[in-house]
Amino acid sequence: MALLETHDLTKDFGGLRALDGATFSVEQGSITALIGPNGAGKTTAFNCISGIIKPTSGRVVFDGRDVTGKEPHVVTRRGIARTFQITRELGELTVLENMVVQSPTEGLWSMLGRSILARERRRAMELLVFVGIAKLADEQAKHLSYGQKKLLEFASVLMAEPRLIMLDEPGGGVNPALLDTIMTRIRDVNRTGVTFLIVEHNMDVVMQLSQSVVVMAHGDVLVQDTPDAVQLDDAVLDAYLGKA
Ligand SMILES: Nc1ncnc2c1ncn2[C@@H]1O[C@H](COP(=O)(O)OP(=O)(O)OP(=O)(O)O)[C@@H](O)[C@H]1O
Ligand SMILES: [Mg+2]
Repeated sequence: MALLETHDLTKDFGGLRALDGATFSVEQGSITALIGPNGAGKTTAFNCISGIIKPTSGRVVFDGRDVTGKEPHVVTRRGIARTFQITRELGELTVLENMVVQSPTEGLWSMLGRSILARERRRAMELLVFVGIAKLADEQAKHLSYGQKKLLEFASVLMAEPRLIMLDEPGGGVNPALLDTIMTRIRDVNRTGVTFLIVEHNMDVVMQLSQSVVVMAHGDVLVQDTPDAVQLDDAVLDAYLGKA
């Protein structure tokens, strides 16, 4: 069963067509990779799915329900979480506070009231232990290294207990040891039944993690198939080598 489907997703920015009829699906329980050359439309697809921007046309269906053009908080409540760049505002908060503001039930209000519920704190600490940065709980997030921020970002999307997690280049710019940790944690979470859609440029990561690969180029989906099959696909090779 498909947990997420896009149908003919199209997005125009002025005269530029960033998405041009992209149709793909993410099977329930899978780790699906979304790949393609720079500018292919991967992040724009994420933005349309998560409600950050509204598609010009086309549909997004999550768990059988149409979520096209819904506000981000509605999409989040339905069970989709995604990683974002950590903002400067959140950077002033501690690591633990960053986690708690992600919580759908408590969030910012309880934090501003200095009454973070024990349950939220416990859940946040468990997740920080899980990704290996529990010792940094009381550090200001802005003092974390790049890799530690990646781990915090991953832990914080788990606070909402999503059914689908969309990660935009989780392994981008991290060292091999940390990349290994991140991949292991993704697998651990996937094993509990959470579905993943991952944009990743590192082909080793894509091949090792995913069961299905969506290849985009020029705003459209060239092919969706198994990792082995897409590696041998002529259209995919052309897209990457620029021959087409
Ligand atoms: N907000 C925007 N306004 C105008 N053009 C945009 C906007 N966002 C994306 N684009 C353009 O849309 C196209 C697709 O961009 P997108 O960021 O989705 O690509 P991508 O596949 O994520 O690339 P990368 O691998 O480099 O991250 C690009 O030509 C980009 O310049
Ligand atoms: Mg991108």
